[in-house]
Amino acid sequence: MVRYPEMTDADLDAVAAAESRIYAFPWTRGNFADSLAAGHGAWLAREGERMTGYAVMMRVVDEVHLLNISVLPELQRGGRGSALLDHLVAWARMHGATRMLLEVRPGNLAGRGFYRRQGFAEIGRRRDYYPAHEGREDAIVMARGL
Ligand SMILES: CC(C)(COP(=O)(O)OP(=O)(O)OC[C@H]1O[C@@H](n2cnc3c(N)ncnc32)[C@H](O)[C@@H]1OP(=O)(O)O)[C@@H](O)C(=O)NCCC(=O)NCCS
Repeated sequence: MVRYPEMTDADLDAVAAAESRIYAFPWTRGNFADSLAAGHGAWLAREGERMTGYAVMMRVVDEVHLLNISVLPELQRGGRGSALLDHLVAWARMHGATRMLLEVRPGNLAGRGFYRRQGFAEIGRRRDYYPAHEGREDAIVMARGL
């Protein structure tokens, strides 16, 4: 059974450790701590005692901005990301949001495929949004109605 408890400070070490296994440019423990302190929504996915993924989302009036959604590398492509996103969508709808936005790296073909499959469309670009191995990289902005 999967549960989606809210992320707390006690989870930050485990989340930061997972993050650094998932991304070439991971969020730091401090980035997650700042998100919690800012009051963003943040959840773990738990199966029994095991954390299998997590997500961070910011609500701005009637929109939500998905800041991070991640599944442990060895568990990807098993439907967990979709289930976690469903949980976020349900939460966002319950809080009156009508649109979900996110940024993704152009080179993250898996992420883009995942989001497209989840009903997101590419609506624009933000220049030099991400750190990259050489200089900066643009972000693709994607959105879907809720
Ligand atoms: C993106 C991510 C959250 C998706 O979670 P997941 O549990 O792996 O995804 P799901 O199993 O629910 O995939 C659902 C669908 O998305 C698409 N998809 C997912 N991973 C994909 C990949 N590597 N390549 C192509 N399509 C992919 C597929 O259509 C997939 O359905 P299918 O397996 O029936 O073909 C997860 O893979 C992840 O943490 N990736 C690394 C971090 C990341 O890139 N996060 C988001 C970018 S900001």
